[in-house]
Amino acid sequence: MKRTLSTLTLLAAATFGTAQARSLADVKASGVIRIGTNAEFKPFTYFEGTTMKGFEYDLGNLLAKQLGVKAQWINQPFDSLLIGLNADRFDLVISSHGITPERQKAVDFSNPHYCSGGVILTRTGGPTTAAALKGKKVGMQIGTTYVGQVRKMFGENAVRTYPSNAAAQQALMAGRVDAMVNEKFYNVEALKATKGKLVEGDMLFQEKLAMPVKKGNKTLLTAVNGALATVLKNGEYQKLSKQWFGQDVRCK
Ligand code: ARG
Repeated sequence: MKRTLSTLTLLAAATFGTAQARSLADVKASGVIRIGTNAEFKPFTYFEGTTMKGFEYDLGNLLAKQLGVKAQWINQPFDSLLIGLNADRFDLVISSHGITPERQKAVDFSNPHYCSGGVILTRTGGPTTAAALKGKKVGMQIGTTYVGQVRKMFGENAVRTYPSNAAAQQALMAGRVDAMVNEKFYNVEALKATKGKLVEGDMLFQEKLAMPVKKGNKTLLTAVNGALATVLKNGEYQKLSKQWFGQDVRCK
């Protein structure tokens, strides 16, 4: 069965209430905040060998430090993160989730930790504009906002979903799809890694990326927002952002 955003909401709603979210006090008492992510999204969270790295990995660790706890990172497929959150497998998700009304029904979002957008990625010579993408096949990671956007702009026939970004990119390289739509900074890394084989096209939409907590977990949400505000102000966020992107990616 094809999983769509609405079945995600249903699944999340079904698991909601069966598990107890850990409040800020519970998290502090345990000394650990469990953070769910999909670590195949360079430069946000990814693995280098067995070590997790990335902008969101560093930011999450900074936020944990502000809360006075250690971060324990849990790597999962992207489309199971919000379900896992509502099943209490983690306290917080940091995995470049765009804030959407659909997701807001299932979880509560922190204030945005960066602003960015979905950009076309294609083989050299491939379609680089929205107009050129009409009638073409677009490969994307399942459960992402890119899928919804491409469906809206080009119809269901355009949509090809893959369990991971790596699989979608393989399909692009092999010519099974004409393009991908992916995060602006993911594309920068993909261009570097494929040396001249891929090019970037237009940005199709902008989004605000934020960190979900389980719906109703107010104490943790307030603390995460407070910690984010602190690092946005004290220069730590700016330093990280410059290091990973060469620019400050905070929402303006
Ligand atoms: N920004 C997109 C979304 O909100 C994609 C996020 C994908 N993240 C990841 N870690 N694979 O759906």
